[in-house]
Amino acid sequence: MTLLTLQDLHVCLRTRGTERTLVRDVSLTIDAAESVALVGESGSGKSMSIKAAMRLLPPGMTADGKIEFDGRDVLALNRRELARYRARDVALIHQDPRAHINPTRTIAQFVTEGVVHTGQMSRDEAVERACALMNDVGIPDAQRRMEQFPHQLSGGLLQRVMIVAALLPSPRLVFADEPTTALDVTVQSDVLAILLEQIRERQLSMLFVTHDLDLAAAVTDRVAVMYAGTIVETGTSAEVYARPLHPYTAGLLASRPSITEVRRMTAIPGRPVAAYEAGEGCPFSSRCSFATDDCRTRRPERRIVEGRSVACHRVEEIADQLTERAS
Ligand SMILES: Nc1ncnc2c1ncn2[C@@H]1O[C@H](COP(=O)(O)OP(=O)(O)OP(=O)(O)O)[C@@H](O)[C@H]1O
Ligand SMILES: [Mg+2]
Repeated sequence: MTLLTLQDLHVCLRTRGTERTLVRDVSLTIDAAESVALVGESGSGKSMSIKAAMRLLPPGMTADGKIEFDGRDVLALNRRELARYRARDVALIHQDPRAHINPTRTIAQFVTEGVVHTGQMSRDEAVERACALMNDVGIPDAQRRMEQFPHQLSGGLLQRVMIVAALLPSPRLVFADEPTTALDVTVQSDVLAILLEQIRERQLSMLFVTHDLDLAAAVTDRVAVMYAGTIVETGTSAEVYARPLHPYTAGLLASRPSITEVRRMTAIPGRPVAAYEAGEGCPFSSRCSFATDDCRTRRPERRIVEGRSVACHRVEEIADQLTERAS
């Protein structure tokens, strides 16, 4: 069953007469209990796609296209329905917990305010359940932690608190926006393991945002690769990892460091372009060693190749070379 559908999602920023496209033609579905990764370099539009899906875009930005959650049109929800959608259907875990928590309020206040505000639980019930959840995610001494303030907790503990706050309302879909990149390397894998364990145990759906394709393929069922505000390739994690069909995906795979072998670092030349900087042609053409004049002037639509979806004019000719390049 499809839980979330994004279809032809566009996000625009309007400032004093100018209009900038930040996200273009993003189409993606997430099934119940499915984990999907959104992978791409900085600025490719991952966070804005999530914010659009939650209707949390900053002022001046607008979303067009179709956003459907469990058959409901998210763009048509009224204030009340929207509050309920954000509080109970979906949850967001941010990259940097400290930037998203009020430093003057206790952990208990932060964790329980949502469910108490929407009337889902009484305060006592919320505190009790939050303590139990804290145990589940490995926060020792939960009762004492609840009385503390954010600055008294390490980054790793605080991100666990974020996971508790996200799970407390029993959402059906969790948006995890680079949930571990702001943490010390030593605690990153712990926090990630805890998040994944909770998602699996509860059979929740997840959209996992990362710039790390290796990590994405390891922890999710399906991968969508984003470049310049649009999705250039999707497939099961195993397929995308073993046989990338888009030159950008192959570039990401080829430039990853390897600990088991000495690998020539074939980083993708040039810098990423934003959606509004992309011209008429393929947005990746300026960095693509396979690009032809056709690629530079005619934008490729996403189409089905080898049972997957990819936006490249030349897939059929170059797929074997890409596989070799990425392996
Ligand atoms: N508040 C904002 N105002 C104006 N432009 C913004 C704002 N936030 C992001 N952008 C622009 O929107 C585009 C998409 O940004 P987005 O934050 O979605 O990228 P991202 O893929 O999440 O990158 P990162 O990996 O760095 O988090 C970028 O060009 C970015 O500069
Ligand atoms: Mg982001």
